[in-house]
Amino acid sequence: MNIIKVKDYEALSEKACEYLIDRIRAVEKTVLGLATGSTPEGLYKRLIEKYREGNVSFKDVTTFNLDEYVGLKKEDPNSYYYFMKDKLFNHIDVEMENVYLPKGVVADLEGECSEYERLIQTAGNIDVQILGLGLNGHIGFNEPGTAFSSRTHIVELDASTREANARFFDSIDEVPTQAITMGIETIMESKEIVLLVSGEKKAEAVKQLIEGEVSEDFPATVLRNHDKVTLIADEGALGKVG
Ligand code: F6R
Repeated sequence: MNIIKVKDYEALSEKACEYLIDRIRAVEKTVLGLATGSTPEGLYKRLIEKYREGNVSFKDVTTFNLDEYVGLKKEDPNSYYYFMKDKLFNHIDVEMENVYLPKGVVADLEGECSEYERLIQTAGNIDVQILGLGLNGHIGFNEPGTAFSSRTHIVELDASTREANARFFDSIDEVPTQAITMGIETIMESKEIVLLVSGEKKAEAVKQLIEGEVSEDFPATVLRNHDKVTLIADEGALGKVG
């Protein structure tokens, strides 16, 4: 794993932005894998700035998000679809027909999982996947115990994950109990992976990621089996790494 250590969240967002723009320029018709959550928000702000300054275009970019809550419509302000439009897609020149997230409201959820896999494969797989890190080691919504061989699937969210995400909702009761997520194997098929981690709160998780045993009990450790992973982390997040 290539580790880029930066001072703080601002520097992390800047570095991630430079990295992605470099890849978008280098790879024709780039397929990006995107994440929601707090960590990539600074990256998305910077990508918008760079787009407005004329430094990058997303016209030929296709995107696949990692996950979506089950039961939230696209228009729900807590859906990941809404989040992505609000934080990125509404402000850049990506074609919405090239933007994919799993659909959280469909009659056939299993069918939606297979369809999402098919779409990723048809696009030629993901060139660069952005990931954040859960406190319990989850990537996407692949909670501890998820098989490394998993493909896009429905998950029951951990109590700790629902608590961590409750900050976006009026109360914890409103946080959905299920989500659709790319599987671990799906994520591992990305040609390149960029993991973003910021803050002391994640320091224990980063230590486990780098120094712990590679195990399904801490899903992110699977990334050590991928030959093109870059961890961009700030001093706080790397504070417990020996
Ligand atoms: C988001 C996702 C999650 C987050 C993780 C970290 O699409 O799949 O795995 O990346 O929960 O979230 P933040 O960045 O809010 O700490």
